Amino acid sequence: MAELSVTDLTKRFDAGPAALDAVSATVQAGEFVALLGPSGCGKTTLLRLIAGFERPSAGRITLGGDVMADATRFVAPEDRGIGIVFQSYALWPHMSVAGNVAYPLEVRGVPRAARAARVAEALALTGLTELAGRMPAQLSGGQRQRVALARCLVFEPRAMLLDEPLANLDLSLRAAMQDVFAQFHRRTGATMLYVTHDQAEALALADRVAVMERGRIRQFAAPELLYREPADCFVAGFVGEGAVVSARPTGAATPEGCIVEVLGQRIAARARSRSPSHVSIRPEDIRLGDDGPLRGQVTGATYLGGRFRLTLDVAGETLVAFAAQRAHPGEAVGLSIEAPWAFEDPQPVLGPDFGGPDIGGAHRTGRALRA
Ligand SMILES: Nc1ncnc2c1ncn2[C@@H]1O[C@H](COP(=O)(O)OP(=O)(O)O)[C@@H](O)[C@H]1O
Ligand SMILES: [Mg+2]
Repeated sequence: MAELSVTDLTKRFDAGPAALDAVSATVQAGEFVALLGPSGCGKTTLLRLIAGFERPSAGRITLGGDVMADATRFVAPEDRGIGIVFQSYALWPHMSVAGNVAYPLEVRGVPRAARAARVAEALALTGLTELAGRMPAQLSGGQRQRVALARCLVFEPRAMLLDEPLANLDLSLRAAMQDVFAQFHRRTGATMLYVTHDQAEALALADRVAVMERGRIRQFAAPELLYREPADCFVAGFVGEGAVVSARPTGAATPEGCIVEVLGQRIAARARSRSPSHVSIRPEDIRLGDDGPLRGQVTGATYLGGRFRLTLDVAGETLVAFAAQRAHPGEAVGLSIEAPWAFEDPQPVLGPDFGGPDIGGAHRTGRALRA
């Protein structure tokens, strides 16, 4: 398995903004990276460029140190040694499961005996041994996706690209298939780039997640870091629950960060920036209790099993908190905000109420996110 790297990779389809805008990133050999972002942000375009289905407008792609594409070179898709799994399984309908999985080896001229052994191994890895003789029409969606996976890994690709492979499956099957992908990655140690617009899937599966927006990578980090230390308003709003609220630096520093003014209170925040513009307030950062310095009103309560998820109106902002006891809409609560993450967003994405362009409610500051 090989390291996959893109440098200043750009793709323009027309005169408008670039579908992919000078993206640089490296997937380590054997790493599982998820590419997460809203529809139209350029995920599939990035995958198609890496696969060799599109030519870059600018920039470079390397695999295991070999240039796959740059200004002067372009390696054909079939010569890149990259396996691809799509959400539409693209199986051959007239071939059995074993026939589908053997096909990439036939194309590459692998002798029959070696072929049989490798097909058996790929079927075993994906839990398909018993279904080897079935035709695609006789399989469930999850089984078909496993055939697509087996067909991809049978030729031992240097890297695997997966484009929303679970998007066509129902919720319960998706959860089961996530386990299949995770096991598959542990057993093969494959370099994997996995595209999804589902943050839960990305956070659950990946070693690191690249969060994309409008053709750019906003942050590329481990899931827990994206959640605890988002780089900007977009990532803070797109990944995980909570609120993004504007903050005013007070100039006072603490060992963990600094003191900021949020919702009219001076609060000790975690931070790297000296002049943060916003805080990300996760449910874990809110402590409910009448001794808290802030007052809020419950606007919604949902039972999650074991705890309640409350939405609170606090000084006009909607915060999300977890509570052990049920609370009712309209009820007044006291709360404190403890060690939220403060960051400096050079270009906050503001909603129309803030005088900026409206690009969708989920990205606005000061609104409930993923409520
Ligand atoms: N073949 C194409 N021709 C013109 N525009 C395209 C083409 N493919 C993608 N785009 C545009 O590029 C942007 C990124 O698309 P895509 O990579 O498919 O996004 P995602 O997979 O994140 O949903 C979109 O604005 C899309 O309309
Ligand atoms: Mg796509």
